[in-house]
Amino acid sequence: MSHARQGRWAAPGRVNLIGEHLDYNGGSVLPIAIDRRTVVTASVRADSVVTVASESFGEPTRFDVATEPGDVSGWAGYVAGVLWALRSDGQDVPGLDLAVMSDLPIGAGLSSSHALECAVAVAVRDLASLDVDEIGLALAARRAENDYVGVPTGIMDQLASLCGVAGHALLIDTAALTVRPVPAEWTADGLTLLVIDTGAQHAHAEGGYGERRRQCAAAAAALGVSALADAAVGDPDTLDDATLRRRARHVVTETVRVEQAVAALAGRDWPRFGALLSQSHASLRDDFEVSCAELDVAVDAAIGAGAFGARMTGGGFGGSAIALVESALTESVADACRVAFAEQGFGPPSVFPVEPSDGAGRVA
Ligand code: GLA
Repeated sequence: MSHARQGRWAAPGRVNLIGEHLDYNGGSVLPIAIDRRTVVTASVRADSVVTVASESFGEPTRFDVATEPGDVSGWAGYVAGVLWALRSDGQDVPGLDLAVMSDLPIGAGLSSSHALECAVAVAVRDLASLDVDEIGLALAARRAENDYVGVPTGIMDQLASLCGVAGHALLIDTAALTVRPVPAEWTADGLTLLVIDTGAQHAHAEGGYGERRRQCAAAAAALGVSALADAAVGDPDTLDDATLRRRARHVVTETVRVEQAVAALAGRDWPRFGALLSQSHASLRDDFEVSCAELDVAVDAAIGAGAFGARMTGGGFGGSAIALVESALTESVADACRVAFAEQGFGPPSVFPVEPSDGAGRVA
């Protein structure tokens, strides 16, 4: 088989620095692609069959490329969904043999499923010479997730995985669908960004996410704005419903924090940037109510051990927290998290550094 008909593609996971639960509210978010990724080895077949194998994700699967929602479930549904979305865009997608590997922890809130979608998307784009840019691929991956897999997520994770730039955070305007890389220079200033994977994944995560989306839509309708991130800071106070008031307050205050965080990042003002991370966590915990005991313990332990700031990252209800720490404090912050988890009777967290990395592309 010729080189052009086979190869290997990789797509990174992400952590969101700040701007949580804003991507389906028309707000701006500030994720990084991380140095952990999903790798897909792909080759074009002569027929219309797709085979998918993976040691890390689950059982191997085989289906026809003309797949429809409902045909393929489980982890391979993310793969089938991307092929379905590209085909429904009118793209000519061939049969494929796919082998998937990943050093991204699965279910840790670091977007392993989006990395899988994006690795497959760039592989198909290159193998079939599709005329589609990163934004188009991200939209196809979101449709795969929303309409094939049936999970109502936004566009942040796919754009982070596809558009990542080493050494930069990505300021994503989710209304305009624009991505602006912002230098993220904490490493040069002697700092480390730690991920604290709590190991927790609460059963209500999916239902809670969908409920938050509906509440945000209801709050936007009550305020007469088409997207909740467009509401003014004082607007939520005018809402009668106390729950909607809290949800909306998170969205409008988080929107302001993203702007402030971009300025702090650009100015390398780490105490300020860290404080904004911690404020974001408090808002997600108290107003948006998507944190959980494990995330709160991780954040408090990291801050108690000297982190500039810490917060849950991603959808919440489990998954991972991030902490910005002086590199010299990395081990003591990790220890503080482990001790605090043991004291609470939680299983040990996994703590590791991440770096802003390049987005999805061909690696061999
Ligand atoms: C999950 C979703 C994203 C985003 C975040 C919350 O990661 O996949 O689209 O909504 O939650 O910010």
